[in-house]
Amino acid sequence: MEPSELQFRKYLLKHFNLVTPEYEMNFRITHAREGNYDFTAADEICRFAKKHGLEVRGHNLVWHAGLPTWVNDPKITSEQLRIILKDHIQTTIRHFKVRYPSLIRSWIVVNEAIEEDGSFRKSPFTRIGNSPDEYIKLAFVWAHEADPSAILIYNEKHAEGINPRSNAVYELLKKLLSEKIPVNGVGLQLHVRIDEFPPPAEVMENMKRLDNLGLQTTITELDVRLPKKDFATRQALEKQASIYEGFVNSCTKQKSCKDISMWGFTDLHSWVPNYFKGDWGAALPFDDRYRPKPAYYSIMKTLTKNSAR
Ligand code: G3I
Repeated sequence: MEPSELQFRKYLLKHFNLVTPEYEMNFRITHAREGNYDFTAADEICRFAKKHGLEVRGHNLVWHAGLPTWVNDPKITSEQLRIILKDHIQTTIRHFKVRYPSLIRSWIVVNEAIEEDGSFRKSPFTRIGNSPDEYIKLAFVWAHEADPSAILIYNEKHAEGINPRSNAVYELLKKLLSEKIPVNGVGLQLHVRIDEFPPPAEVMENMKRLDNLGLQTTITELDVRLPKKDFATRQALEKQASIYEGFVNSCTKQKSCKDISMWGFTDLHSWVPNYFKGDWGAALPFDDRYRPKPAYYSIMKTLTKNSAR
C-alpha cells in the first residue's frame, strides 16, 4: 500500500465518523454488465468502515451520469427497464444489508434528476411510466421495500440556496410526500467556488422549508474550490475558511440538518483538479501533504462552538 494511502486512512479515522464511496457504488461499477453484479470496490470500503466503526452512506442507486452504456440501449423496452431498475436497487441494498447489517443507515436513492432550470433531466429511466417522475417515485418505493429502516435521500447539486432548481426539488419532494412515497431527506451537495456560492442564510431558508415538509437535510458533498492562481494565497485560503464556516454553521444551527460530508478531505485526493483540468483545485481543508489549512480550523471552531450551545 502506498504511504499516502496509510496516511489517508489515519486522517479519515481521526476526523470522521461517516464515509461515502465517491464512485464505487455507481451502477456502472457495480452492474457494468446486465445481471452481473460486482461489489468488490464498495465491499472494501464497507469492510474498512465496519472494522473501524464508521457509518457508510450508500451513494447512489440512480444517477444519469453513473450508468453503464448497456442501460441506454433503445431496444430495451420500458417494461424491461422497470425490471432492471428494481433489480438493481434491491440487489444492491440487500447485498450490503446482508453482509454488513446496520452499516449503511442511509441511501442516496436518486441523484441529480433535475436540471438547472427546474425541468426534469433526461434519463433512460424516464421511459418508465407516463410521467418523468415515475421512475423517481418507484426508486424510493423499491428502496424502502429492500430496507424499510433506511433513511432514503434525494440528492441534488446547485440546489442549496433558493433558485429554480431548488424550487423544483422542493415541489418534487412535496408531491412525493403527498403521495406517501417513502422519502426521508434531501442531500445538498454544496460543490462551490470561492467566488460563487449560495449565501448560507439562503441555504438555511431552503433547509427550513424542507424541514417544514417533514424532511431532514444533509450536506453531502461539500468542497470550496480555488482558481489556480490562488491555490496557496493567504487571502484565498482565509476566504475559503469563512465559506466552510458559513455552511457548517447553517447545518449545525438547523435541527433537521443531520450531518455534513465533504467530498474528500485532502487536496491530494479530490475530483476537482481532474474535472477542471487543473484550473481549479485546493478545495478541501487539508492540503496535498495533509497539512491543515485555515478551513480546517474554521470548521473545527464552528463545530466546537455550536456543539457547546
Ligand atoms: O480510480 C480509477 C482508476 O483506477 C482508473 O484507472 C481510471 C481510468 O478510468 O479511473 C479512475 O476512476 C475514476 C474515479 O473518478 C477516481 O478518480 C473514474 O474514471 C471517474 O469517472 C470518477 O469520477 C467520479 C465522478 O463522480 C463520476 O463517477 C469522481 O471521482 C467523483 O468525485 C464524482 O462525484 C460526483 C458525485 O457522484 C455526484 N455529485 C457531483 C460529484 C462531483 O462530480
